[in-house]
Amino acid sequence: MSIKYIKNELYIEGLSAAQLAKLCGTPTYVYSKKLILNNFNNYKKAFKNDIVCYAVKANSNQTLLKILSELGAGADIVSGGELFKALRAGIDPQKIVYSGVGKTAEEITYAIESNILMFNIESYEELCEINKIAKKINKTARISFRINPNVDPDTHKYIATGKHGTKFGIKYEDALDMYTAASKMSNIEIVGIDTHIGSQILKVEPYRLAAVKIAKLIDRLEKENIILKYIDIGGGLGIKYENSQKPPKPAELKKAVMSVFGKYKNKTLIVEPGRSIIGDTGVMIGRVLYRKKSGNKNFLIVDIAMNDLIRPTLYDAYHNIIPVKKTFKKQIIMDIVGPVCESGDFMAKDRKFPLLEQGDLIAVECIGAYGSSMSSQYNSRKRARGVIIDGKKIIHIRRRDTFEDLLRLEENLEKIS
Ligand code: LLP
Repeated sequence: MSIKYIKNELYIEGLSAAQLAKLCGTPTYVYSKKLILNNFNNYKKAFKNDIVCYAVKANSNQTLLKILSELGAGADIVSGGELFKALRAGIDPQKIVYSGVGKTAEEITYAIESNILMFNIESYEELCEINKIAKKINKTARISFRINPNVDPDTHKYIATGKHGTKFGIKYEDALDMYTAASKMSNIEIVGIDTHIGSQILKVEPYRLAAVKIAKLIDRLEKENIILKYIDIGGGLGIKYENSQKPPKPAELKKAVMSVFGKYKNKTLIVEPGRSIIGDTGVMIGRVLYRKKSGNKNFLIVDIAMNDLIRPTLYDAYHNIIPVKKTFKKQIIMDIVGPVCESGDFMAKDRKFPLLEQGDLIAVECIGAYGSSMSSQYNSRKRARGVIIDGKKIIHIRRRDTFEDLLRLEENLEKIS
């Protein structure tokens, strides 16, 4: 995303951030179409004959999904709601894979009837449930098993999934039994194998290690005459939140896994990136409300809160924050916090930042992934507006909640009994 100062004023994709704030109000999520195209095309180039399934959970906005769908993206979904949104955006069901440990009967039925490419199954009971439902509606469900390869992705514990002891995937040692059981089921067609080791991963080596384990399983399965068409390597490639971080490019990821999977000529690779497609394409513009001191701490209170961006609170995540008007004021150590009534409501802790004044604008970077998709109305705050910059145009992609929106689901209710 092009974010730079021109004559001490911040410009986002060539548009004045102050002007954007005036037009759209604050806080507002601002995305760059150009960077979305760029990020997706990098994947497409690296994974040419493969399927790139965008992980919808990273940001499920309809306009963004439609842009990706037009570029040929598939989808990695984890709920019926995500399936609905992906289909509505025009994503080809034959490029949709369904992950997640707790798919309900209603969601499974919907996915089978939508003819998705495959379920990534995470437990034996889920396998039985899918077979039972497929039988009931007289269909065959295509499946793969999500294997937990017991590899350490070296990331925050809440977003590490590929180690034993997490709720995700089938234990590596149980995989063979699981495939054998599935091969005997009437309404199941085994088509693939899947793994997803975590998120915000900054090295390709854990992917290679997982690939080695998956390849061993594939070879073992082929001996049993269980032949797979798809190898899904999951998502998780990291992005540069901090200057010191050097995330690998999609082409490096491809190279690392192909050093193992290259020998399989008749299989299609699937990759499920979320953050690395959408994360760095968004900034959030907000405004300084107040300044205060408590004990020996300085606080800058802004109108962006944990309900708009929960990542700092939940994962101790770092997001770069910059003033919209460049200032040469002295920088001091402060917490940049939101209005929500929780001590955990912060955008930055002990950050060196200029002591801005009431009404000054700020921009929080890299909020494209897991920003708006994890937002809520907590404290009865209106969820923020979203816009996308397309060339010189600003396109509205989500309106700000109204007070009426805060009541919509709680009024005019039908009697239960
Ligand atoms: N595939 C599966 C099965 C997943 O569970 C995820 C993310 C992805 C793909 C996409 O991972 P990505 O490429 O975006 O890293 N809210 C957290 C991240 C949670 C990730 C959950 N699963 C955060 O803000 O860091």
